[in-house]
Amino acid sequence: MKYLKTTFLLLLAIGFIGFSVIEKPATVMTKAALGKLLFNEKILSKDSSISCSSCHHPDLAFADTLPYSVGINGKLTKRNTPSVLNMKNRPYYFFDGRASSLQEQALMPIRNPDEMGLPIQEAVQRLNNSSFYNKQFQLVFKSNANEKNLADAFAAYENTLETTDSKFDDWSNNIKKLSPAEERGRQVFLSDKAKCFDCHFQVDFTDDGFKNIGLFNGKEWNDSGRYLITNNIQDIGKFKTPGLRNIAVTAPYMHNGMFKTLEELVEYYNNTKKIVPNSVNIDHALKEPLGLSKQEQKDIVAFLKTLTDKRYVKKNS
Ligand code: HEC
Ligand code: HEC
Repeated sequence: MKYLKTTFLLLLAIGFIGFSVIEKPATVMTKAALGKLLFNEKILSKDSSISCSSCHHPDLAFADTLPYSVGINGKLTKRNTPSVLNMKNRPYYFFDGRASSLQEQALMPIRNPDEMGLPIQEAVQRLNNSSFYNKQFQLVFKSNANEKNLADAFAAYENTLETTDSKFDDWSNNIKKLSPAEERGRQVFLSDKAKCFDCHFQVDFTDDGFKNIGLFNGKEWNDSGRYLITNNIQDIGKFKTPGLRNIAVTAPYMHNGMFKTLEELVEYYNNTKKIVPNSVNIDHALKEPLGLSKQEQKDIVAFLKTLTDKRYVKKNS
């Protein structure tokens, strides 16, 4: 009997410990942790089939492998899915820069009929109807879910997605050496010959501006990019310069996913007219062929591959 009683007390104690362990995540719930849950939450799409991470896969540097991604009811997005890494403090979001904060950006895919197709009021209602989410919003924001705190939670999570752990960073910090090919590639990348650094600079390799690299001719290539937002003729065919961190894992490339490999992409830059002969409004830096040798092109690719932060790549690849 005594033995039984001890066992009972012991079980009770274990129960209490177990209970407090399960409860723990709730007490340390932060804005960013809530944002992470929401980023993976399918109830934020009309038919509960799609979450942000359906297109922005955490193990593919928050991009996917398709030229156009699949939203609700099998609809395809109008543009290629970019990574959402290194989005902190960018002045613009989307290829055409139509959002200027992460808060503003985050609600757009939820509403977008090609992506998640859910009015925000309905999204908020679903969260408040869920006892789990209602509790989390109360803990984090001391309030029910609403449009503003929903956007704030996404932004807080995305602000944590910075990449600083690549071979390139190790080289910058004098921890690792680049291979000869990577080092040659770095130098060509920076050179006046290749001109990559004219547009891809700062820590994340972007000028945070809009440039026309020759992918608009009004016919087969007819996404006019920034022009759709500003209606300024000078913006025809301009797209936001994407950062290049983790670029080796986010194929296919460009707003329309037209290049499957970095090799193809660098060959395009070398002589844009070979692929888009009659482009409109191309940047002066790319008007003439660059004249890069095959070796220089290969070296640039080797350099680009040093920009991968392994934390955001599939473990087994
Ligand atoms: C169906 C696929 C899909 C879903 C779902 C989706 N996105 Fe996207 N995302 C895209 C595409 C495509 C773009 C680029 C669109 C454009 O530039 O016009 C994009 C762009 C972005 C950008 C801007 C990136 C940049 O470089 O400017 C951010 C940030 C982002 N998405 C976050 C989110 C969040 C947060 C969610 C969930 C609330 C989400 N996305 C859901 C496909 C998707
Ligand atoms: C005049 C400015 C400019 C120059 C010069 C330039 N880029 Fe770009 N780059 C851009 C813009 C703008 C885009 C996005 C275009 C689009 O999506 O249609 C881009 C896209 C890319 C992408 C694809 C990014 C993605 O996520 O899809 C890579 C990789 C890239 N550039 C590498 C390079 C390299 C390497 C060079 C030098 C050989 C170079 N760029 C020169 C502006 C430039």
